[in-house]
Amino acid sequence: MVAGGTCLCPEDCRLVRFENVGLRYGMGPEVLRDVTFGIPPHSFQFLTGPSGAGKTTLLRLMFLSLRPTRGLINVFGRDVAALGPDEVAALRQRIGIVFQDFRLLDHLTTYENVALPLRVQEREEATYRAEVTELLGWVGLGERMHVLPPVLSGGEKQRAAIARALISRPEILLADEPTGNVDPRLARRLLRLFVELHKTGTSVLIATHDIALMDQFDARRLVINQGRLTVYD
Ligand SMILES: Nc1ncnc2c1ncn2[C@@H]1O[C@H](COP(=O)(O)OP(=O)(O)OP(=O)(O)O)[C@@H](O)[C@H]1O
Ligand SMILES: [Mg+2]
Repeated sequence: MVAGGTCLCPEDCRLVRFENVGLRYGMGPEVLRDVTFGIPPHSFQFLTGPSGAGKTTLLRLMFLSLRPTRGLINVFGRDVAALGPDEVAALRQRIGIVFQDFRLLDHLTTYENVALPLRVQEREEATYRAEVTELLGWVGLGERMHVLPPVLSGGEKQRAAIARALISRPEILLADEPTGNVDPRLARRLLRLFVELHKTGTSVLIATHDIALMDQFDARRLVINQGRLTVYD
């Protein structure tokens, strides 16, 4: 149903490229070892593996909030080791991310949280109000858009975090257990949103434990185990 993401470019055009990446936190053991893989344009992939395997760590590396302790990471053609803070901020605007712990801003309403990436791009509210409202309706938060995150349930927060990641139609969408707090029916509905975004050209990478959910989508799986990543087409 969804493309595996085979790259047909004459040269390497992957949006993200890892080569022999290793990561350790402080003096601890290597959490990721010799990780080599890529995110091709217009791909839809799952990232899976046991709890503590390194899925969130891998997403943080891609989102440039962690630097590798060895190996090479290239994002949108740039070697991340050479990037300054302004360049990191500019590249991040092209990546949507759903954090495992949501990270909504508690002093902004649900609507304002979802609209935030567009405000950061300095867009006028009149140009996006209808779009934000429609997306909130789609994720079932139409009635909750004017409340603050502390009064949302876990599943509602998760849906707000998903809407915020999708609203700017990023080139890459990274999602960390985006259906961990919702029932299976809602999980399928949310996954359909990711598939729709993928159809518009976004490369999607979803970290999940949910094998039943993955089985419903014909997509490549990246499996991390004991720090090593294996790709299953
Ligand atoms: N900030 C940190 N400092 C030290 N160790 C960390 C830190 N974050 C994660 N780790 C360790 O790195 C390993 C990988 O953690 P990570 O959160 O990436 O796993 P995960 O696959 O996302 O797990 P889960 O499925 O439970 O979310 C774990 O052993 C974890 O304890
Ligand atoms: Mg995790």
